[in-house]
Amino acid sequence: MSLTLVPSPVWPMEPASSSVVATRMAWYAAVARLAPSKHNTQPWRFVVCGSSLEVWPDPRRMLPETDPDHRELIISCGAAVHLACVAARALGHQPAVTMLPDGAGGCLARLVEVGPWEISERDRELLACIPTRRTDRGPLDGGALPPGLPFLLQSAAAVEGASLRLVSTPGDRSTLVGLVERADRLLVKRGRVDEELAGWLRAPGDPRKDGVPTDHTRGAAASYRAEFVQRDFSTPGSRPAQDRPGIDRPVVGVLCTSNDRQADWLVAGRALGAVLLCAAAAGAHASYLNQPIEESAIRNEMCSALSLTGQAQLVLRLGMGGKVEATPRRDANRVTFHTDGNAG
Ligand SMILES: Cc1cc2nc3c(=O)[nH]c(=O)nc-3n(C[C@H](O)[C@H](O)[C@H](O)COP(=O)(O)O)c2cc1C
Repeated sequence: MSLTLVPSPVWPMEPASSSVVATRMAWYAAVARLAPSKHNTQPWRFVVCGSSLEVWPDPRRMLPETDPDHRELIISCGAAVHLACVAARALGHQPAVTMLPDGAGGCLARLVEVGPWEISERDRELLACIPTRRTDRGPLDGGALPPGLPFLLQSAAAVEGASLRLVSTPGDRSTLVGLVERADRLLVKRGRVDEELAGWLRAPGDPRKDGVPTDHTRGAAASYRAEFVQRDFSTPGSRPAQDRPGIDRPVVGVLCTSNDRQADWLVAGRALGAVLLCAAAAGAHASYLNQPIEESAIRNEMCSALSLTGQAQLVLRLGMGGKVEATPRRDANRVTFHTDGNAG
C-alpha cells in the first residue's frame, strides 16, 4: 500500500485569514502539533482552509527504512487529529472529522466544527494533559496504576474505533518479550536503520526543535537488562536521563484496528491520542515497543501468537513512571499554513 505524498496545491500559502473560526482552527493546530510522532519527526502540516483544518503528511519527514508504507507517519498524524478534537471540545465546539476526504494524495483528515459543545471538567482536564504528557522510557510500574485504569484505557481506544488488547497472561507476555527482542535485533542489524535514526538524534544544545534528544532514553545497557528491549536513542557519551531506579513491570498492550489501510492507521493514531491522554489524566506514563510492528514477518507472527483479533498497530508500555523532560516541538507558525478555502 503506498501513499502519494505530493505537496498540496494550496502551498505556498496566502496570508492568514482573520476570521474567528480560522483563528480557532490555527489554535487547534498549535495544540495538535504536541502529538507524539515516531522519532519526533512531527510529520505533519496543518492547513487552515476557510473554516476547516486539514492535516497533511509532510513528505520531507518520512522514514523509508523503518516505515516504508507510512503506517507510523499516518498514526502520528492521527494522534494529532485527536488532540485537535480535544482542543475544539475544550473550547466549546463539537468537532467532526472526515478521514481521507479527497482520496489518495489529498489531506489525511479534515476537521470542521458542527455545533456547540457543552464543556465538561473532563474536557478541560484532557486539554491540560496535552502539554504535560511525555513518553517515559524509564521503569514503569503497572501494578501501581489506579484500579480500573486499564479498563478505561481500553474504553478510550474503543471510542475511537480501535481496540487495546492487554497482554496479561505470563505465556503471552513472554512470547511478546521474545518477539520484541527478535525484531529489535533484526532492526539493529540493518545498517541503514541506524543511519535513519542518527538523522533524528539531537545532542544537548542542538537548537533544532524536532528529533529525539540523546538523553531522552534509558540507554542500551539498561534497556537490554530490562524485561522488554526498548529502542535506544543514546550516542557515545550521552547521558541516559530516563535510566532511573524503580519497579519496571509495565502493563503492556497492543493497539489494534479491524483492517490495515490508511484510514485504519488514522484510527489507530486517534486511539493512541485518546489512550495517552486518558493515562496522563490518571498520572500514568506510557512508552512504545514498536519494533515488532516495523518487521512485517514478526508483526504477522505477533498477531497469530497472541491471537489478536485485529491488525496490530502499536505496542505500548503503561505504568506509573518518573520525571521526564519535554521533547521539543517546532513552533506553530512553522507547521501551520493558511488559505481562504477557495484555492485548489
Ligand atoms: C507511531 C509511533 C511510534 C513510536 N515508536 C517508538 C518506539 O518504538 N520507541 C520509542 O522509544 N518511542 C517511540 N515513539 C515515541 C516518540 O519517540 C515520541 O513520541 C517523540 O519522541 C516525542 O516525545 P513525546 O512523546 O515525549 O512528546 C513512537 C511514537 C509514535 C507516534
